[in-house]
Amino acid sequence: MATAFARAAHLFVDDTPPVFEDRVAYDLLPAFQRRYIRRLGDLAPSWLRRYRTRLDAFTAMRAHLVVRARYAEDVLAAGDDFTRYIVLGAGFDTFAQRQIEPGIEVVEIDHPATQREKRKLLQRRGFREPEALSFLSIDFQTTSLEEIWLPSSESDCISWLGVTYYLQSEALIGTLTTLAKCVSSGTELVLDYWQMPPPLDRNAPLLLGTRVTVALQQEPMHSFFTPIEIETLAVGCGWRVRENLSPAEQNKRYLSSRRDGLLVPSFAHLLRLVKE
Ligand SMILES: C[S@@+](CC[C@H](N)C(=O)[O-])C[C@H]1O[C@@H](n2cnc3c(N)ncnc32)[C@H](O)[C@@H]1O
Repeated sequence: MATAFARAAHLFVDDTPPVFEDRVAYDLLPAFQRRYIRRLGDLAPSWLRRYRTRLDAFTAMRAHLVVRARYAEDVLAAGDDFTRYIVLGAGFDTFAQRQIEPGIEVVEIDHPATQREKRKLLQRRGFREPEALSFLSIDFQTTSLEEIWLPSSESDCISWLGVTYYLQSEALIGTLTTLAKCVSSGTELVLDYWQMPPPLDRNAPLLLGTRVTVALQQEPMHSFFTPIEIETLAVGCGWRVRENLSPAEQNKRYLSSRRDGLLVPSFAHLLRLVKE
């Protein structure tokens, strides 16, 4: 819900053009959050600028959430051969609702509790489940993906956003290894990982605050990596690294021409892997 809130708020609070245009996220939010976002959008530009600067933690997080979503869908759009878009840990991702019919086959894989909540919510808000969308549920901590995976002889595009840091490293390694075994060659996997910042880093309090918040919601974060560590791990699990994008590289690619001050926080990295 928090990521949907950020994607929706981006369209009201930040400058145009949006980095990522998710016009469905807003519809998934509770009424009080929609009202809050609308009121923000009605503020005079000078107040909006102040809002962005004063709430710099939310601004940095919003930048991260829209850039990672944009990156995954850029990878999907760049590959002509993909026959499925597999969204691991889909949460309130809305690609299936946004894509133009008939579009690509979408498979959302998530924890059963999240998936139940999302499907109920979509139904309540009047969204029909697209024919091209199917759901599989899993708890990555206790179940191997192999048990639920639907094999394909074609290459898939897989996104795995906002999940790696919630897993113990054994679950992460297990999932990456299983995926590498299950998918066909040419399959690409996009994920984000977080690197523990030094204590005096400007974004260290943001990461600490986020960790405390999610831990209080019974979803503690467990895994943090340096770029070298994650590359070694991914290669050991059977993947080739195609791109390992630092926050600075993400800012350069997606945010450099903007004047609204959006900047990806210094701990948020993106990784693009290929199965050869
Ligand atoms: C922060 S949300 C990310 C949602 C979405 N990918 C996005 O970028 O907006 C984290 C997602 O990871 C899923 N998740 C966390 N731990 C999990 C586990 N052990 N097994 C399956 N899914 C898990 C949650 O259900 C949730 O959908």
